[in-house]
Amino acid sequence: MTTRIDGEAVAADVRDSLTDSIAELEADGVTPGLATVLMSDDPASETYVSMKQRDCAEVGIDSTHVEIDPDAPAEALYETIDDLNTDPDVHGILVQMPVPEHVDERRVLRRIDPIKDVDGFHPENVGRLVAGDDRYRPCTPHGVQKLLAAYDIDTDGADAVIVGRSNIVGKPLANLLVQKAADGNATVTVCHSHTEDLAEKTRSADIVVAAAGIPEFIDAGMIREGATVVDVGINRVDADTEKGYELVGDVDHDSVSGTAGALTPVPGGVGPMTRAMLLYNTVDAAGLQTDTDVSLP
Ligand code: GUN
Repeated sequence: MTTRIDGEAVAADVRDSLTDSIAELEADGVTPGLATVLMSDDPASETYVSMKQRDCAEVGIDSTHVEIDPDAPAEALYETIDDLNTDPDVHGILVQMPVPEHVDERRVLRRIDPIKDVDGFHPENVGRLVAGDDRYRPCTPHGVQKLLAAYDIDTDGADAVIVGRSNIVGKPLANLLVQKAADGNATVTVCHSHTEDLAEKTRSADIVVAAAGIPEFIDAGMIREGATVVDVGINRVDADTEKGYELVGDVDHDSVSGTAGALTPVPGGVGPMTRAMLLYNTVDAAGLQTDTDVSLP
């Protein structure tokens, strides 16, 4: 029997708790504010940004949105970030990635004031996370930790294999799971496109995190009986549906079901948690910037 890890339900619990945190801030006259910035006409990015705004409205976070023509000069984006950095009503800034090729992504990340960097991608925040002095945990890795905790899946002493070494998921998750902490203490292996004998490594794991961006890549032959499998992938593949595509993860769910002990679905697994943890970081950021004590779930 494979347990289905219900990300929608855990995310709803996080949002519920955050409404209490936001009430604490409101009692001190603080309304948390998130600014989203989109410099892209990619439909998936547009959808992600609009979902983030909807989530903010649901819990009582003010959201503002800035759209920049993808053909505009990079300066337009830098100036927008500068304005948001100095806006006291904005506690969190999220620039939806990817940005157009003529914009230097690393320069964008460095331009955001680290105290408003609710993605946790600024080098200062990355460094703090590696040092175990984290301020904002990147949303997807933090969401994965919360999911594991919600299902009492112990990371302490576990062998965790992460497939994928992105700055957004693989690297920060590895750094979180290896920390000397109750939600860490794992022995972590990070695999990638140059890894040899990948299946041998994933088969040795108690926890496999699939974050390579390759549709249905992990199958039952790569999983040990009873292992926890976390599917971070969200891949659009052509399909005979109304929209002409469907979303699939990095895990072949038909294959792995029955072998894995627990498995996150796609959709409805990690995705809703990523969105919930952005709200979490925005509430945290509002507390920090206004010197207001706020309890977080
Ligand atoms: N694009 C895909 N994932 C993310 C994310 O977590 N944050 C931002 N800013 N852009 C993304």
